[in-house]
Amino acid sequence: MSKILIIGACGQIGTELVLELRKRNGSAKVIAADVRENCPTVLSGGPYVKMDILDRQAVREYIIDNEVDEVYLLAALLSATAEKNPDFAWRLNMEGLFTILDLAKEKHLKKIFWPSSIAVFGPTTPRHNTPQYTIMEPSTVYGISKQAGERWCEYYFNKFGVDVRSIRYPGLISYTSLPGGGTTDYAVDIFYQAKMNKDYTCFLRDDSALPMMYMADAIRATIELMDAPAEKVRVRSAYNLSGCSFTPAELTDAIRVHRPDFKVSYVPDFRQQIADSWPASIDDSAARNDWGWKEHFGTAEMVDIMLENVDPSKLN
Ligand code: NAD
Ligand code: SER
Repeated sequence: MSKILIIGACGQIGTELVLELRKRNGSAKVIAADVRENCPTVLSGGPYVKMDILDRQAVREYIIDNEVDEVYLLAALLSATAEKNPDFAWRLNMEGLFTILDLAKEKHLKKIFWPSSIAVFGPTTPRHNTPQYTIMEPSTVYGISKQAGERWCEYYFNKFGVDVRSIRYPGLISYTSLPGGGTTDYAVDIFYQAKMNKDYTCFLRDDSALPMMYMADAIRATIELMDAPAEKVRVRSAYNLSGCSFTPAELTDAIRVHRPDFKVSYVPDFRQQIADSWPASIDDSAARNDWGWKEHFGTAEMVDIMLENVDPSKLN
């Protein structure tokens, strides 16, 4: 059985990915790693190691000495945080990827998952039903890093046979851990305010449609892609993936089905420009045809689950 390392394990995706991989593979085989000193309680049922992906030598030694077979590299700065610190974002988002790609090139790793994003698209991309292959001129440092990362993943696959797999995640919605500084975070924040019976001030305009996905679908997609036979994984940059798509106004209406008095006001900030440069909806037929992707959760189901499960005490 493979030994799996998740780097960036304490984040929004990592937390749920670790839990699901441990359920499937056994806790001892799935090592959570993060730059954070302490392991969050939710991940304490299995191995945890403090690891800085920017410490190339330490990461190499850990992976080689512990005979790790697969890495999920999730450590990154997301779109909004990256715009505040572009130099560091570029360094974090790119250097770690090379460390892991090189380990696979040297045959220390069998398989890698590295996430891309809808941020690879830009203002010149067709906004609706955005195709797998299209114009890609991202205008954020985050999007530029993801586009460059995709190119390097494909290059390492073509030149060195590195088995690297990737998804262009849409905005992800979950309640287990809080989101880490993205443009789509409003679609998580809003549930905490609704649950507390408070009004919400949205940092995007009411009509900003964006592609979104409930986390359980994203985790299942990730594992299905990693489990797919290599010959079925025909896209070695990153796959488009679609769950649902909505505007802040549409999400508010869906929440009002359960909380009719819920009020939202709109005060767009710098994140509006980022949202305006991204697709409204995604064509994911390549993922559907190649490895059988199909979403399970639409907006209404996701809203039910979020209102039931978000825990406002996490905001403290
Ligand atoms: P997050 O910000 O919630 O988590 C990132 C984790 O990485 C954090 O726990 C952080 O402590 C850790 N980290 C930061 N610097 C590190 C370092 N130097 N070494 C080791 N760990 C470090 O992010 P997320 O939402 O879980 O996203 C994970 C990946 O998925 C990122 O690459 C992101 O770009 C991508 N992605 C996320 C979304 C989304 O909506 N969440 C959408 C598209 C793509
Ligand atoms: N949810 C992410 C962000 O907003 C998309 O990559 O940054």
